[in-house]
Amino acid sequence: MEHLSFLLHFLLSLALNHASFATANNDQFLYSGFSSNDLTLDGAATVTPDGVLQLTNGTVHLKGHAFYPTPWQFRKSPNEVVHSFSITFVFGMVPVYSDQCTDGMTFLISPSKDFSGAQTSQYLGLLNKTADGKSSNHIFAVELDSSQNTEFKDINDNHVGININSLTSVKAQPAGFYDDKNGVFNNLFLISRKEMQVWVDYDAENTRISVTMAPLKVAKPLRPLVSDIYNLSTVLQDPSYIGFSASTGPIDSLYCVLGWSLGINRPAPAIDVSKLPRLPRIGTRRQSKVLEIVLPIASGTFIFLVGTAIILLVRRRMKFAELHEDWEDDYGPHRFSYKDLYDATEGFHYKNVLGHGGFGKVYKGVLPVSKLEVAVKRVSHESKQGIKEFIAEIVSIGRLRHRNIVQLLGYCRRRGELLLVYDYMSNGSLDKYLYSDEGKDTLEWFQRFEIIKGVASGLFYLHERWEKVVIHRDIKASNVLLDNEMNGRLGDFGLARLYDHGTDPQTTRVVGTMGYFAPELARTGKATPLTDVYAFGIFIVEVTCGRRPIDNLVEDSSEILIDWVVEHWHRGSLIDTLDRRIQGNYDADEVCLVLKLGLLCAHPFSNARPSMRQVMQYLDGERPLPELMPTNLSYSMLATMHNEGFSQYTSLAFTGGSNAMTSSFSSGR
Ligand SMILES: Nc1ncnc2c1ncn2[C@@H]1O[C@H](COP(=O)(O)OP(=O)(O)O)[C@@H](O)[C@H]1O
Ligand SMILES: *[C@@H]1O[C@H](CO)[C@@H](O)[C@H](O)[C@H]1NC(C)=O
Ligand SMILES: *[C@@H]1O[C@H](CO)[C@@H](O)[C@H](O)[C@H]1NC(C)=O
Ligand SMILES: *[C@@H]1O[C@H](CO)[C@@H](O)[C@H](O)[C@H]1NC(C)=O
Repeated sequence: MEHLSFLLHFLLSLALNHASFATANNDQFLYSGFSSNDLTLDGAATVTPDGVLQLTNGTVHLKGHAFYPTPWQFRKSPNEVVHSFSITFVFGMVPVYSDQCTDGMTFLISPSKDFSGAQTSQYLGLLNKTADGKSSNHIFAVELDSSQNTEFKDINDNHVGININSLTSVKAQPAGFYDDKNGVFNNLFLISRKEMQVWVDYDAENTRISVTMAPLKVAKPLRPLVSDIYNLSTVLQDPSYIGFSASTGPIDSLYCVLGWSLGINRPAPAIDVSKLPRLPRIGTRRQSKVLEIVLPIASGTFIFLVGTAIILLVRRRMKFAELHEDWEDDYGPHRFSYKDLYDATEGFHYKNVLGHGGFGKVYKGVLPVSKLEVAVKRVSHESKQGIKEFIAEIVSIGRLRHRNIVQLLGYCRRRGELLLVYDYMSNGSLDKYLYSDEGKDTLEWFQRFEIIKGVASGLFYLHERWEKVVIHRDIKASNVLLDNEMNGRLGDFGLARLYDHGTDPQTTRVVGTMGYFAPELARTGKATPLTDVYAFGIFIVEVTCGRRPIDNLVEDSSEILIDWVVEHWHRGSLIDTLDRRIQGNYDADEVCLVLKLGLLCAHPFSNARPSMRQVMQYLDGERPLPELMPTNLSYSMLATMHNEGFSQYTSLAFTGGSNAMTSSFSSGR
């Protein structure tokens, strides 16, 4: 009898606990799957009934953490050095709606479990702007980063890095592993919805940190992916917690952990991958379950063959399916076939990703027949409304031709997705040159001046020289691309219209980017050539000073570039605002001209701003700049005084993420 009840009890506990398999003692632990009392969770982190630790829950701009509940001693006694340790875990990243994830996750060791002050998005729920880089953090982390942030010098949007007290990695490598047999490097794609295993090893004797990763069923590769000498005795405090952090940016993403083990002064216990729970299957566009079950059962080879043939055909049709309506025939020549674009970009392979912006990813491609190099931008759109007008506009914009405008070659339309094909700009976007830290990459003054003049002439063409007035709506350094001769060319125009057309007319959304918004734009919601001139003014000041219009998280007005320049002008030290990386080689008159012109264009009163025609004349020296009195009022103050709507402007421009456009994008789903 007793045996029976014991057996029942055992079976019951087995049934309840099937999800998690955990062992622990004082120098090691092992989890294959989790149950929620195994961990201390906060923020968006949860443990699913299957035993998957989900650090984020698929909502945007959130963070989540999970810690081993009690802290660990990494030293035997306070005066000793940090022991060797080794950690391994199995993780997976799951895009929810799209094929992207932002921003990333970390494994971390920290003296505290309280991460309430940490920020989301690019801060990965690990740190915040003020705390980043401080040695008082005592944090060691390994980042698995699925977004590229230039402020942290990220190498790409698919990398693994070793981080000490900062989001800027001391060492980072694109995700992947070295084959043990032939030493060949294999790329891994973090957001592939596949489970992957990571090993973090610290060798106390040589103070070497090694991070290795591999697909789930591949044994630990011999050669680590990232390795660095760093004495963790100077970083870690005792006792310290170990755990994970993750955060989402503007795109719904799930960051999951399936198994985890630690060994101090010994290897981490091996995770038995057959015991792990499965990654959540959301957002996958799979064939229906019925097919998966019926097909193996269907015994006749005939049925099987016919079935397979049909599936293949349907799949192929679905894979390359496009949307096409009669009215589009007028635009015949501008339409690309999806298959051509698919082939051009090698199936939208991630190695061809040039970058991603608010609207989606941009891929490099080579068109099959012409061998022309192109950039293909994938824009997802949900609504049908207004798409006709939008495409009509895109196509008419495709007829624009100017040497300072990125040529739109055509488009392709599929369900829920629009593909735009542009000329490929071999030198990428301007912001990368402005904010790269290595002096070698920075632009000389004469190059900057040429780019400014080029962009002015492109914008002048859009505003005044074409058959109708085209408003760009999103002028900024990252939308200025450089061709092989380093000419500045405006890209991305017209795209902002997609929001105006595609969304509910009752919610007027102002599209643009924080820092480039004209004050009246937020009040009226109406983009005009003069709001473009405003953004252009900010842009040229930015290019001259080599500083972003607003540093993230403004707390103090000196972080507003334009106010800082106005202040220097008032004090008669305008030239001091020139980017320090430009050494000696500049014409002070030109610099002052551009700065004053920038201030004139970015004037809070729209009627004080010049037209682009006048801007061209000032830049070419055909006309002297009108005398503006230096003011001791900051532009922000002037705007406030002028404009009741200013409070609305600030609240609007600073909601959510780092740019108003992406935050309106994600909430528009
Ligand atoms: N025509 C192009 N040629 C080369 N690179 C491009 C082109 N268009 C975009 N890119 C790259 O893709 C990145 C993202 O572009 P985009 O989506 O326009 O950014 P954003 O939305 O921030 O303006 C750019 O920073 C640039 O590096
Ligand atoms: C995600 O987590 C946040 C914060 O804990 C919560 O407010 C939100 O409701 C969660 N969303 C879902 C879909 O569970
Ligand atoms: C930044 O993080 C630190 C450490 O977690 C915290 O003390 C501080 O309050 C945070 N700052 C902000 C502005 O949230
Ligand atoms: C690491 O740092 C600790 C504490 O500063 C020091 O005692 C130790 O000698 C260092 N180890 C090495 C290998 O430099």
